[in-house]
Amino acid sequence: MSLPSNGAPGPDRVRLPRARRTRRKRVVAMCAVSLACWASVVSAQTAELAQGKRLFESQCGSCHGPLGNGGKGANLAQPRLRRATDDEALSNIIRRGISGTEMPGSPLTPSQVSSIAAYVKTLGRVAPEDVPGNPQRGKAVYAGLDCARCHTLRGRGGIVGPELDDIGARRSAAHLREALLAPEASVPSGFLQLRVVTRDGRTFTGIRVNEDGFSVQFRDLSGRLHSFWKDELDVIEQLWQRSPMTSYDTRLSVEQTDDLVAYLVALKGAPEE
Ligand code: HEC
Ligand code: HEC
Repeated sequence: MSLPSNGAPGPDRVRLPRARRTRRKRVVAMCAVSLACWASVVSAQTAELAQGKRLFESQCGSCHGPLGNGGKGANLAQPRLRRATDDEALSNIIRRGISGTEMPGSPLTPSQVSSIAAYVKTLGRVAPEDVPGNPQRGKAVYAGLDCARCHTLRGRGGIVGPELDDIGARRSAAHLREALLAPEASVPSGFLQLRVVTRDGRTFTGIRVNEDGFSVQFRDLSGRLHSFWKDELDVIEQLWQRSPMTSYDTRLSVEQTDDLVAYLVALKGAPEE
């Protein structure tokens, strides 16, 4: 079975691991004559989902939202997931995380992984996130602002900020809104801003690209890469929770903000139609 599609399968179609499936088949055969027996099959599944829900809330909710509809992490409450395209991919992602992203692996037991996976699949049966705003108009809002100075979208733009091609698949609408109105509230990992002062008195700021015991590399706002030996520098200041992206709060009307968020939400990595 693939992930829940819009033709929402009922809870009885949640796939169990092979051993349990076989066990279930046997129980099902025995159950043919007894209603009470059916009730016990259903309640074992209910218990598994309840465990999955509890684990999800404690292990995943901080990023994916307690209801799974996204936050810093992707919105999982949708009928199709971009990376977790089938059961195996879903379990692998939960176990190992997604390298190169903020999605961590976790030391869960196989039974915990399978109950979380079963629960994640039930999340997809809700209606898709309802985002106010018009993505077409949002596209024009985007083009009229300076976003491309720092962000690449469809191959065009600067590289100071993260690429936006699939931002709508990676982040929730609420997170995207916050990124526009209060960029410093949720700076993605990997975007640490530095301020350095050289021994001869020059000051630079930029986003850290690399740092080791002896040297540091960062990219300034024009996208230029700087590299210094640490003994050339008087000051290296790490500006946590600081962003070169300034808030668009006062530059956008409520309607423009809604439109821009709707546009970003629609960016799921697919080529433009
Ligand atoms: C520290 C934050 C964080 C935590 C904790 C976290 N995730 Fe994620 N997760 C993310 C981010 C960010 C992504 C998007 C990665 C990407 O595609 O760039 C993601 C992606 C995913 C995906 C892939 C979604 C898709 O579109 O295919 C699944 C499934 C997932 N997470 C499930 C979980 C589960 C289940 C847990 C708890 C065991 C969990 N995550 C814990 C941040 C987190
Ligand atoms: C001066 C450079 C700059 C400009 C201009 C800029 N951004 Fe950003 N943006 C960044 C940087 C750097 C980050 C990552 C660190 C952070 O969140 O501050 C970021 C983060 C973001 C994020 C969050 C990404 C994530 O993965 O959470 C979104 C969404 C975003 N920008 C959209 C926009 C849009 C839309 C515009 C135009 C209205 C814009 N940015 C203008 C530099 C910029």
